[in-house]
Amino acid sequence: MKVNQAEIVISAVSKAQYPGDQFPEIALAGRSNVGKSSFINRMIQRKNLARTSSKPGKTQTLNFYMINESFFFVDVPGYGYAKVSKKEREAWGRMVEEYFKTRDTLKATVLLIDFRHPPTEDDLIMYDFLKHFELPVVVIATKLDKINKTKRQKHLKVIEEALEIEPEDVIIPFSAETGEGKEQAWNKLKEFL
Ligand code: GTP
Ligand code: MG
Repeated sequence: MKVNQAEIVISAVSKAQYPGDQFPEIALAGRSNVGKSSFINRMIQRKNLARTSSKPGKTQTLNFYMINESFFFVDVPGYGYAKVSKKEREAWGRMVEEYFKTRDTLKATVLLIDFRHPPTEDDLIMYDFLKHFELPVVVIATKLDKINKTKRQKHLKVIEEALEIEPEDVIIPFSAETGEGKEQAWNKLKEFL
């Protein structure tokens, strides 16, 4: 996919602020710091359009990025960061649930999982939540560059088994650092656009 246009349209915290246009949309979900914003940047070859940080909790709002004047990537705040209060966690839950439950133009969700580790309990809950709403999920196992080639197959199997991935969903190993997996990810996402 050649990306020749990418810009942030709005940072939303509630439904009233979502863009009104009827473009297809792909959301990014995953633990804080797993690499959601980095995934967007690598896919569109823009170093810093989606703000990234080595500290978890950088993305706090639903950020809608218009791509090629034809679809949106929606960067969703991450979960599973220990240092948030109960109140903040509840606010996150309301914002994310409202989005996934009501957004008609949402075509698929990219669920990012850290390639290095088995999925966390929160990852499993998120996957089941998305499947509950019958949303197609593309699992991106990211930070692939941090694992030695000889160990990759084993890591992939652990993730597959823990998620009990449904036959219609795929897991794509990916690195925002090196760009590995980018073409495969685009080929899959294009099916929904
Ligand atoms: P929140 O917005 O806090 O939910 O985090 P996020 O999921 O958007 O993560 P972000 O993209 O900000 O990345 C977090 C950190 O991981 C940054 O330091 C990135 O440089 C790093 N990172 C992301 N993807 C990769 C990758 O594929 N490989 C390596 N080595 N580092 C990565
Ligand atoms: Mg982010």
